[in-house]
Amino acid sequence: MRTFPTATGLRTYLDGLPNDQTVAYVPTMGALHAGHMALITAARDSHDVVVASIFVNPTQFNEASDLDTYPRTPEADADLLQLHGCDALYLPAVEDVYPSDYEDRTSRLDFGPLVAVMEGANRPGHFAGVAQVVYRLLDIVRPTTLVLGQKDYQQVAVIRSMIEQLGVKVDVTVVPTVRERDGLALSSRNRRLNDAERLAAGTINLHLKAVAAGLTAGWDPKELEKTAFREMAHHELLAPEYVSIFDGDTLQPWAADAPVRELVVATAVRCGPVRLIDNFIVRTSF
Ligand code: PAJ
Repeated sequence: MRTFPTATGLRTYLDGLPNDQTVAYVPTMGALHAGHMALITAARDSHDVVVASIFVNPTQFNEASDLDTYPRTPEADADLLQLHGCDALYLPAVEDVYPSDYEDRTSRLDFGPLVAVMEGANRPGHFAGVAQVVYRLLDIVRPTTLVLGQKDYQQVAVIRSMIEQLGVKVDVTVVPTVRERDGLALSSRNRRLNDAERLAAGTINLHLKAVAAGLTAGWDPKELEKTAFREMAHHELLAPEYVSIFDGDTLQPWAADAPVRELVVATAVRCGPVRLIDNFIVRTSF
């Protein structure tokens, strides 16, 4: 695997590839785990060249302490990427991604209702930062396919909207969430949990599954949201921010019985020093 600290170096490498080679791109913020590796594997399986990036993007952090404490493990990350068949790693400094003369085409985008709910409502400015960095990274890498995780369901919707609004030519592949044995979604932030918090965090997915079971049994979505929220709040180590049942295309609350392509339940929960998110696709073609 080749590692490039600058966009110029990475571009020289990519420009030297034969024209017919397909390139899959996996953007990350590092502290890599098996969830990230599922994206690398999906990329490797279907493309000639796999490019990953590790960049802790300051513009998407709405809490300074979250940015300061975000885990950074570049050497271990590079080893994992190499082991999983990644060809090129872009590992830039902030100035390389955001040079002083760069023009941010995403600042005038409007994500409307997509960002008025869930993470968008609870983390002001977060998705503007995500759209900004992903557009900039796509502009550097110019891949055939962008590979993203379902773990960040709303992020996928916002990035798809950015791609459409700016007419970026790229396919998007979404990879299912990789979980620990107890169902906890893998996350770089999990490593900041102590043993008791880790156990508590492992129950979050069970509440989402209970909501899914209730929906399948025909129970009222608003009651199910409230029950899951209340039950998580009962746990002394969990502080839920929301439990939302929504239409996967619009991200808007689901009115029971409305036809949807994909019905999803998602939550954000504070646990000890971190804020965890998870979602579960209840079913498709409801
Ligand atoms: P990061 O949190 O590092 O995640 C990078 C990619 O890995 C995202 O597409 C995310 O959805 C995926 N991912 C994380 N945990 C996963 C899991 N348990 N199973 C499957 N996929 C998982 O998301 C970001 O970084 C940033 O916002 C980024 C897109 C890189 C822009 O800065």
